[in-house]
Order: sequence, then C-alpha cells, then structure tokens
Amino acid sequence: MEWGMANRLAQLIQSDGHALFLPVDHGYFQGPTRKLEEPRKTIEPLLPYADALFITRGVLRSSVDPDNTKPIILRVSGGTSMVGKDLANEGITTSMEEAIRLNASAVGISIFVGSDYEKESLLNLSKLVDEGERYGIPVMAVTAVGKELEKRDARYLGLASRIAAELGARVVKTYWCQGFEKVSRGCPVPVIIAGGPRVDTELEVLEFVCDGMQKGAIGVNLGRNIWQNDFPVAMIKAIRAVVHKKATPKEAQEIYTNEKEKALKKVRPVRAVREN
Ligand code: 5RP
Repeated sequence: MEWGMANRLAQLIQSDGHALFLPVDHGYFQGPTRKLEEPRKTIEPLLPYADALFITRGVLRSSVDPDNTKPIILRVSGGTSMVGKDLANEGITTSMEEAIRLNASAVGISIFVGSDYEKESLLNLSKLVDEGERYGIPVMAVTAVGKELEKRDARYLGLASRIAAELGARVVKTYWCQGFEKVSRGCPVPVIIAGGPRVDTELEVLEFVCDGMQKGAIGVNLGRNIWQNDFPVAMIKAIRAVVHKKATPKEAQEIYTNEKEKALKKVRPVRAVREN
C-alpha cells in the first residue's frame, strides 16, 4: 500500500485497530435532523471523543474550525431527499479535487444494492475508488437501505458489504444485525457499524455495538444514537469504552450513568438559582 493511503487509513483506524467515527452527514438528505439543527452545537462537545467526523463539505466549512478538528471522512454522494422520488438515485456530489483541498482523510459514498439504482450506485463507487486510489484517498462505502430498514439482515448486508469490498472500498460501513459474523467474515476489508434510527435504551445500543465488535467489526460510525441522546457526551464516552477499551455493555452503561450524573450536577445549581 502506498504511503499516503496507509497514512490516511492510520489517521482513521487507531493503533489498537479500532475506530469511532462520528457521522453528522444526515442533513444531506434529511435536512435539519432532530438535534442536528445547528451542527456546530452538536459537533463541538463530541469532537474530543471521536476518531473522525463523517460530514459533507457544506457543514465542514460552516460548522467545524479548521485549526481544531479530527480527521475528516467527506460524504461525497447525494442529490436526493426524504421528500423526493427515490433516495437510491444518488450521484457523486463532491469532486476528488475538493476532497484534497479540504484535506480529507477519506471519502464516503452510499451504495444501494437491490434498488432500481443498484448499477448506478455501484458504478459511482467504482469511479470514486479509481480516483481515490490515484491520489491515495481511501473510500468508505456505506451500504444504504433507504427507507427499507427491514432489509438489515445478515444475508442482505453480507451481500452488499462484499460487493463494496470487491469494487475496491477500503472500509465498509454497514448496519449491525443478528449473525453479524456472517457479514464480517465475508467482507475482506474493515467493517464499521452504523446505528440507524434511535433505539429505546442506551443498553440496547451498547449491546449491539459490543456484539458487533466481538463478531468482527473494527468500530462504529454511530450518529443518532449518540447525538439524539439527552446526554450525548455521556453516550459517546460509553461507546468509546466499548470500542477502544473492550468494556462490556454493563461497564459502559455505568460510564454513561456516571457521566450523566456529572452533567446533571453541572446544570442543577443554575436551575436552583433561577428558581429562587
Ligand atoms: C446517513 C449516514 C449516516 O452516516 C449513518 O447512517 C450513520 O448514522 P446513524 O448512526 O445515525 O444511522 O450514512 O446516510
């Protein structure tokens, strides 16, 4: 592997072989997603605990300071929206030249296996890989399911992840599912778990992250289950302990609870003064 490619991958995947990416790219098709309405406010407190940010160029420029940040995975696919005809009909929205100008450590693109736009999205990935390899920029493929969340089973995700790796993605981001080992075993490049819509309890998130890590994922790209939590810093610290410190879900839950208590103590005195 060329030095530039190896160096960029090492910025993303830490020396323990694991990674915690923080995705804040949702607005590119969802608009002002809940708790990501003002991206800077969401990103700033979480940044110290993330290994990289997954972000579009617009939010990067407007909401992240260039002198105090983490490695950037630039979201370069899009062109569709929640209210449009078909989320799968994405194109490449940002050039490799722009990724280099923004000093991105990687670029990310969605593929829609099984959709009406399967071929287009896979050819977009292939083209992006050709360009990325030319300049030493890794491509992260995102196995997207659009609105069809029920597609998230090992058979489908294993198929989509393997195809992404075959076409040259250096990292594959997919969903956690039951039997996750089938997905990771069939994918010869590192696999990262996305979270999907927020689940009911913190413990559920910690459990699926832990299960995915034990079954071959190298880390997470977890958004809503962190920043839509009422205590996002507590949540990212708990997830970080699972990813980088091999914490069990129960240990990580304790971290969450302690951090939540600390955060509450900080706001309580202010409330008490206001109430007097
Ligand atoms: C949006 C994305 C997100 O980066 C990905 O879904 C991870 O975020 P979340 O954990 O909120 O699902 O690719 O298209």
